[in-house]
Amino acid sequence: MEKKRENWGSKTGFILAAAGSAIGLGNIWRFPYVVGENGGAAFIILYLLCIAIIGLPVLLGEVLIGRTAQRNPVGSFRALTKLKFWPYVGGMGIAAGFIILSYYAVVAGWSFGYIFEAIAGSFFEFNTPDAAANHFNSLTGNVYWIVGMLAVFMSLTMLIVYFGVQKGIERGSKIMMPALFILLIIVMIRGITMEGGSEGLSFLFEPDWSKITPLTFLEALGQGFFTLSLGMGAMMTYGSYMSVKDSVPSSSLQIVFLDTLIALIAGVAIFTAVFSTGMNPSEGPGLIFHTLPVVFTKMTSGFLFSIIFFILLSIAALTSTISLMEVITAYYVDERKWKRHKVVVVFGSLTFLFGIPSALSFNLLSNFTIFGFTIFDLLIYITANIMLPLGGLLIAIFIGYVWGLDKVVVELKKGAEKLFERSHWRVNVWKVLIKYFAPVLIFIVLLHSTGILRKILNIFN
Ligand code: PHE
Repeated sequence: MEKKRENWGSKTGFILAAAGSAIGLGNIWRFPYVVGENGGAAFIILYLLCIAIIGLPVLLGEVLIGRTAQRNPVGSFRALTKLKFWPYVGGMGIAAGFIILSYYAVVAGWSFGYIFEAIAGSFFEFNTPDAAANHFNSLTGNVYWIVGMLAVFMSLTMLIVYFGVQKGIERGSKIMMPALFILLIIVMIRGITMEGGSEGLSFLFEPDWSKITPLTFLEALGQGFFTLSLGMGAMMTYGSYMSVKDSVPSSSLQIVFLDTLIALIAGVAIFTAVFSTGMNPSEGPGLIFHTLPVVFTKMTSGFLFSIIFFILLSIAALTSTISLMEVITAYYVDERKWKRHKVVVVFGSLTFLFGIPSALSFNLLSNFTIFGFTIFDLLIYITANIMLPLGGLLIAIFIGYVWGLDKVVVELKKGAEKLFERSHWRVNVWKVLIKYFAPVLIFIVLLHSTGILRKILNIFN
């Protein structure tokens, strides 16, 4: 007899786990530095538009596909259409998950390593931003440190996924998400009250439209997909453990709300600190590791907060890495009938090996670039700015044109009867967004931003 498939213990369990997937380094590490590199407020407005017009509708669709099919991304498409093409879209998602996990765990490893830096009191030796940056560079420049932390972080991820959906993922998320929220608010309040912090607020909230180029749209879209874990089947997989008694629209809305809130809070916390300490906002991936330690040295009980903060950053990252790992796991468990622990051991180890070149991009391979990108930057660019929007485009097309919107609405109603009783307009808005707006907008943005693709093609000419 086939064993019953796993599921969430409750609706809150699902929301916290999915919010845990969404909220992670994308909000606290990537969002601030991408905002910094793309000119601040104007970028944020584009980003919020992308989330509302594209992110939320696609998230809803992805969760719905998973919940209806109760399968991993490949199996889900296979269950919903006979067309042979669609399972490959699921396969592309699983591949994207593998690649993202490999570099994501490198950065997650830094935040984990910083817990020990905090405990050792290293931050108090460098109360200038330069000293903090040097310290960061010397740590990431150390091959043993960076590869070691990658190994440790992958092991933590494997451990949780090993315990399964309810006992591992859901239980972990329920404890850690609320704690993260409270701490981030405290750090934000300290940022706002720092001298000169208000300049950071103007940078974040007063748009300078001259900074916007066609590429900015791609960045905003890419960040929207990345931060909501969209376009690669993570939300589909989490949706597949959801019960038909729970509402997909209301859960999706809550996930988007929490994710956006956390990104904005992180933005305020970090930019007030960046401006008050006179740092450069467009510094790139090292940004939060250069700024926050300096903030902590200026804070009462900063020692304690610095430890707690990096523990929580690691946890935010962990609730995301487990969702990436779960996509691969669900596929091998559902489709290939592997045992969960076997997938975890085999693919956990493979991801670690595949992550090593990304880790070496900060030391041995720092001068090795492809199209001007280090391996690490290239993998981020390809996944966040190309694979995820492309996956999202295909998911929107699938829902709007292949699955059949009538069938989709029948599924959508399950668990959301109240919403349908009250009014239909919201459902109609969603249909228009997913069928017309999302595919057309994503397509235009992808098309206009194929600069990198053109470069790649030129090489082969
Ligand atoms: N959403 C996660 C974050 O913001 C990253 C992620 C992307 C996780 C894709 C799963 C899938 O940190």
